[in-house]
Amino acid sequence: KRPAGAPSPGLAKEIGKVGVVGAGLMAGQIALMFARRLEVPVVMTDLDADRAAKGLAYVRAEIDKLEAKGRASKLKAAKLRALVSASADKSVYADCDLVIEAVFEELQVKQAVFGEIEPIVSDECLLVTNTSGLSITAMASKLAHPERLVGMHFFNPVAVMPLVEIIATSSTDEETLATAYAVAKKLRKTAVGSADRPAFIVNRLLGRMLAEVTGAVDAGTPVDVADVSLDKLGLPMRPFALLELVGLQVASHLTTHLNEDLGPRFPISENLRRLAESDVPVFDAEKQGKGRL
Ligand code: CAA
Repeated sequence: KRPAGAPSPGLAKEIGKVGVVGAGLMAGQIALMFARRLEVPVVMTDLDADRAAKGLAYVRAEIDKLEAKGRASKLKAAKLRALVSASADKSVYADCDLVIEAVFEELQVKQAVFGEIEPIVSDECLLVTNTSGLSITAMASKLAHPERLVGMHFFNPVAVMPLVEIIATSSTDEETLATAYAVAKKLRKTAVGSADRPAFIVNRLLGRMLAEVTGAVDAGTPVDVADVSLDKLGLPMRPFALLELVGLQVASHLTTHLNEDLGPRFPISENLRRLAESDVPVFDAEKQGKGRL
């Protein structure tokens, strides 16, 4: 069934090679997912060879885990290792059909990335941002061909979270949008189309929930009490385990953006900011247990 708002799948382009900008955690997870589900070569790049190599090592370790668990046969695992590569040289994007960025969540950084990538890629290449809520229209405004830019927001852990938000701007053409939906289907994700507005749909909900729980701690509620406050809601993870999964720095950065864009209904937690700055994992997901609340 075609998702609501998706153009005819007949308009979708074939994807024969994928580029991922960045080699961090989300980038590595995204690279592996594309290789696994589209079975095409995927190349990641990062600022230097060291970071690129670290990203590739992470992906290879994830492939080892899939093989060890029987999720990928020996042959499939070997194919995946051959499909994913990493480089510090962005010219590898020249023959890609789709390049997705998963770099630091800052508009200027993403604009600079696309500014660097657009002259390298072919005219047919789709440009995709994995932003979790920055303005895609603002990214498109800097492009020579804004019609080929679309947002595909994946969630952590990418391999298991079934959802992807797809965000078109007023410039995105039908071919690009149809390809994004067709790719999401091949990746076995459920696609929901969101308007291009701050934090789209999901991060507003998550941001609000996490702000309320960290706010309770700021107001004096003990951490462990706040952490079980959502018990019986059927959430897959306790709020502080989720905060750790997202990453304290990412979460703090996210709440700052939400606060700037949407005002005081998205307050900034002083405790979260302090913890993110100190980079100490205080909310220990293992100790607090995961599983259902
Ligand atoms: N990478 C790859 N695979 C992972 C993983 C990871 N980081 N974490 C878990 N998995 C896999 C496990 O290996 C396991 O796979 P197998 O079945 O093959 O063994 C499977 O997921 C289930 O894991 P577990 O049995 O260990 O644990 P679980 O049943 O508690 O599920 C969970 C773990 C999927 C993370 C679940 O707790 C969950 O859905 N939590 C909520 C996550 C969430 O809300 N994510 C959104 C974060 S916000 C975001 O990403 C947006 C943003 O822009 C910041």
